[in-house]
Amino acid sequence: MNTRLRLATAQDFQAVAALRKNTMGGDYWPQTFLNEISNAHHVFLIMETVSSELVAYGWIELTLPEASLIEMAVSPKVQRQGLGQALLHELVARACSLGAEKIFLEVRASNASALALYQKNGFQVISTRKRYYSEPEEDALVMEKTFLFKPSNLARRIGEPEKTV
Ligand SMILES: CC(C)(COP(=O)(O)OP(=O)(O)OC[C@H]1O[C@@H](n2cnc3c(N)ncnc32)[C@H](O)[C@@H]1OP(=O)(O)O)[C@@H](O)C(=O)NCCC(=O)NCCS
Repeated sequence: MNTRLRLATAQDFQAVAALRKNTMGGDYWPQTFLNEISNAHHVFLIMETVSSELVAYGWIELTLPEASLIEMAVSPKVQRQGLGQALLHELVARACSLGAEKIFLEVRASNASALALYQKNGFQVISTRKRYYSEPEEDALVMEKTFLFKPSNLARRIGEPEKTV
């Protein structure tokens, strides 16, 4: 499937909210939401077809040197075609290029597809947050991906003391 990625604008709000509700149940978002997060601390990406139909979105918050993957979703009718993989790859690449050294996320413990996607992309479970989610109540798995190219992380990998660079 041919798709393109771009940053979200306020005009995407209705389509994003509809996809969010369709895929995640979705809490209420204020209409001004996409305006409010259009700043340097957020990367909100839209994936759309060549005819501008929204097929996926993903959102990373930057609190450098860390970043958080807040959420991502792919339209059910086009899942399992590699779009989630492509979107996550781009979100991670942008966070990295903007200075993030590690990315955290939370995922429902029962969300096998998302868990598999994150693990495939180098995220590891580091802790559990008991009863973190509601409706239905469920634990969250906290996952972390650290960018290995940082000299300090390389030193840690080969067993040397961490250096400040
Ligand atoms: C999780 C989600 C984003 C995956 O998107 P997708 O486009 O279907 O994923 P892809 O086709 O790119 O698959 C990439 C990898 O994800 C994993 N995966 C995706 N769907 C899966 C499924 N149903 N079962 C098991 N693994 C799955 C696999 O590791 C897959 O790699 P593979 O094809 O080599 O096996 C999508 O299922 C979704 O939107 N779910 C609802 C919203 C959600 O749960 N978001 C995450 C929490 S915020």
